[in-house]
Amino acid sequence: MKRIGILTSGGDAPGMNAAIRSAVRCAIHSGLEVKGIMRGYEGLIHNEIIDMNARSVSNILSRGGTILKTARSEEFMTEGGRKKAFETVKKNSLDGLIVIGGNGSFRGAHELWKEFKVPSIGVPGTIDNDVFGSDYTIGAYTAVNTALDAIDKIRDTVTSMERIYVIEVMGREEPFIAIRVGLAGGAEDVLFPYTEYNIDDMCDDITAGRKKGKISWIIIVSEGVANAYDVAEIIKEKTQFSVRPVVLGHIQRGGSPEAFDRILASRLGHDAVQALLNGYRDAMVGIIRDESKITPYEKATTRDKRKVLLDEKLYKLTRILAI
Ligand code: F6P
Repeated sequence: MKRIGILTSGGDAPGMNAAIRSAVRCAIHSGLEVKGIMRGYEGLIHNEIIDMNARSVSNILSRGGTILKTARSEEFMTEGGRKKAFETVKKNSLDGLIVIGGNGSFRGAHELWKEFKVPSIGVPGTIDNDVFGSDYTIGAYTAVNTALDAIDKIRDTVTSMERIYVIEVMGREEPFIAIRVGLAGGAEDVLFPYTEYNIDDMCDDITAGRKKGKISWIIIVSEGVANAYDVAEIIKEKTQFSVRPVVLGHIQRGGSPEAFDRILASRLGHDAVQALLNGYRDAMVGIIRDESKITPYEKATTRDKRKVLLDEKLYKLTRILAI
């Protein structure tokens, strides 16, 4: 292996730059040449390749977003698009790729391996924490802290006015952010996918709580289950209380990565280079219980039961603490 390409794909996540920096410098340390692929798979399809050296990644460790830019490529989902991507790989003599992204990006990389035998190693970088094979993905904990900071601010108005706030957080089908900000932000309830929630029960709780003197509520909604506007409307109708929906949106993806994510990204960037050098293909690097692990893409893109069980435990605790 002489030359590798690095790309970031899907939604950006804080810490992607730290992963790029680590992968570039570790690759150079191991005697490899490195090319950057701009705009994820879009850039791979359209041959948007840049030279990278140790200095190309100076002063990016603390920056959010991704210097390589990213995209959600419709064309890469087609075989024709992947064929063009393969042509770019050949044209630039790339012996392997490092793909920093989430499970959609890994599905794409797996197709590229199946169809054209392009070796790649995935680095989990997404605020959703929705891969199998790594306890945490790069950016997820920074996103939790960003959302929590916003929720703490909303709490100031929650405690000053008699209201119910319904706050929607990101995460697709994975309630990682919702469950953590629910517990850390002292929410009364969290609505999240894969559980049976009954809005009537919640409204009864609210009405009973009011009678006992409780004046305000914070309810977190994970985007994969409902949207804050609909939930707020139902609660308002059923309880007749004042309700405000808040959608935190893309602020959750921005900002400087926390130390945790910078360290995770630095480790995973290193592990990805080592994995390629050690002959792994078609797999993702991750860290489980603080140890480096390699998981085939096919497995990495499935749901992790351990995460589901932990979420359920944390949710139960949130409810106990909300009395
Ligand atoms: O996958 C990261 C994520 O931020 C999800 O939490 C969210 O559902 C989605 O991306 C939003 O995607 P886009 O930025 O394309 O609107």
